[in-house]
Amino acid sequence: MCGIVGYTGSRTAPALLIAGLKKLEYRGYDSAGLALQREGTLVVAKKAGSVADLEATLNRDLEQVTVGIGHTRWATHGRPTDINAHPHCSCGDEIALVHNGIIENHQELKDWLAGEKGHHFISETDTEVLAHLIEEFYEGDLLVAMRQAMNKVVGSYTVLALSAREPGRLVCTRQSSPLIIGLGEGENLIASDITALLEHTRKTKILEDGEFAAITADSVEIVNADGAAIETDIFEITWDLEAAEKGGFDHFMLKEIMEQPDAVRETMRQRIDREKGKVKIDDLGLSIDEITALDKLYIIACGTAYHAGLVGKIIIESLTGIPVEVDVASEFRYRAPLLKQNQMVIVISQSGETADTLAALRLARQKGLKVLAITNVVGSSVAREADHVFYTWAGPEIAVASTKAYLTQLVALYLLGLYFGEIRSYIDQSVAKELLEGLIALPGQIREVLSEASIDRLRAYCRHLAGWESAFFVGRNLDFPVAMEGALKLKEISYIHAEAYAAGELKHGPLALIVEGIPVIALATQKAVLDKTLSNIQEVNARGGAVFAITQKGFNDVAGQVDGVFYLPPVNDLLAPVLSAVPTQLIAYYAAVERGHSIDKPRNLAKSVTVE
Ligand code: G6P
Repeated sequence: MCGIVGYTGSRTAPALLIAGLKKLEYRGYDSAGLALQREGTLVVAKKAGSVADLEATLNRDLEQVTVGIGHTRWATHGRPTDINAHPHCSCGDEIALVHNGIIENHQELKDWLAGEKGHHFISETDTEVLAHLIEEFYEGDLLVAMRQAMNKVVGSYTVLALSAREPGRLVCTRQSSPLIIGLGEGENLIASDITALLEHTRKTKILEDGEFAAITADSVEIVNADGAAIETDIFEITWDLEAAEKGGFDHFMLKEIMEQPDAVRETMRQRIDREKGKVKIDDLGLSIDEITALDKLYIIACGTAYHAGLVGKIIIESLTGIPVEVDVASEFRYRAPLLKQNQMVIVISQSGETADTLAALRLARQKGLKVLAITNVVGSSVAREADHVFYTWAGPEIAVASTKAYLTQLVALYLLGLYFGEIRSYIDQSVAKELLEGLIALPGQIREVLSEASIDRLRAYCRHLAGWESAFFVGRNLDFPVAMEGALKLKEISYIHAEAYAAGELKHGPLALIVEGIPVIALATQKAVLDKTLSNIQEVNARGGAVFAITQKGFNDVAGQVDGVFYLPPVNDLLAPVLSAVPTQLIAYYAAVERGHSIDKPRNLAKSVTVE
């Protein structure tokens, strides 16, 4: 999720590129850089930090420069440092490029380029491989060299490059990552997002996967992988800037909910060996002996990440046989936990900067325990200080209420559970295989849950919900932590007081609060306890509560007993939380929309809480 921009024309490129990068900063913001063409050479300026930090370092003598490329980074491979910032250059500094995405076979390519071909690498990034690979094929035409180079690359990417030897020319390509060409008068632009183009033009050409383009101030050439010319229609943009940043959605939260199929797929990418029916996360750095010796795990986190941990406990215990204790970080720190040898702590943090989570991590390490971090931000404090890191690849999450990061945290926990379970010979091969296939199917199933027809079904209930000041979420087993997360989401953005209860606990108190029409959202996705959950639904019905159930297709008994029902595609019960969380996010979102609240920045809350 990095931001890319390129310009060729007659205006001052550095200022224009910096302005474009500022518009893209929401895609990634840990470092930024420019590569500019000046009198037959390339000038590269790059820096860890914000685009404004980069801007402050630029020399005034670059004002005459009219061609260049820029990048704002969201680190994936390699920490956010000056050297790892883009652009990256070839050995002779004749070619510079910026990249968004992941090069899956970068190590293999690097070994070949550094060994047999004698290239010199200076960064920890996968991107640098591309600069050297293109240099390897370069014979004076960057478009040809890029076509030949990308033939050897596996991954998802947008690449934008320029050569010192080809004045005024920018070359780009894409595969599963966005790239748009902006058409101007005597100038042309390229960007990973229309937000960077809108100030200059509304006329665009959208590059498709596997296509390559070369642009100059007054020409645009688009070709396929074989070099054959492609005719592309001009696409006129009608969105305003604010809508464009949100990808056309009304709020970042909805955009991020809709990005979940991709976020989940990215988090699984390269971590599943489908043929062998195995999870492959050997790069965690945990030895087989360490995993086999584990006799207890602690999962520690705050907020939504804590709820992911509660799901993780049930998953990991059932897949590995290791007992798991889950704690909110601020409690763990102050309750003198009995930490012992052969135990490990897993901290979960989207931002990697939450003060309480970080303090809990430090406490565990002080007591001699190893810490594994599940985080979304490369180079964050939690990632730097943990012994082992599992990155979720959700991309930057902007809305305060976490959605896509939560789903990827669940995926991380499934993968860890399967990995540990396999090493400890705890799970049956056929069960592991079934779960892996189930995981692979999730992105498609989430997409189904997000279909327009499904959403319409929810919205009517949300109108009812929005009129109440109080609501309940109930569920048993894996449905209970999902209910807790659903209630948190609703509280955060709709300001409706929401309580989550283990469905069996209703009769021990909360039933006293059930009155005619009060909204009760019942999670009923677990076959083993379905009958019990249905009995609890009856208890609510008998007192006039308005029950909306979230269940699996095929659980036919549910529909007749509730006021509304949302069917998830049939799914292995253990994996159901990944799907059932999605309608709860949508319920919170549409209830808050009905109430006219500020969705992305709810009152009194912050995205990352760096104070105790
Ligand atoms: C804040 C955010 C929540 C988030 C929690 C933990 O409260 O508003 O959405 O779940 O912090 O954040 P972390 O970055 O550690 O996952």
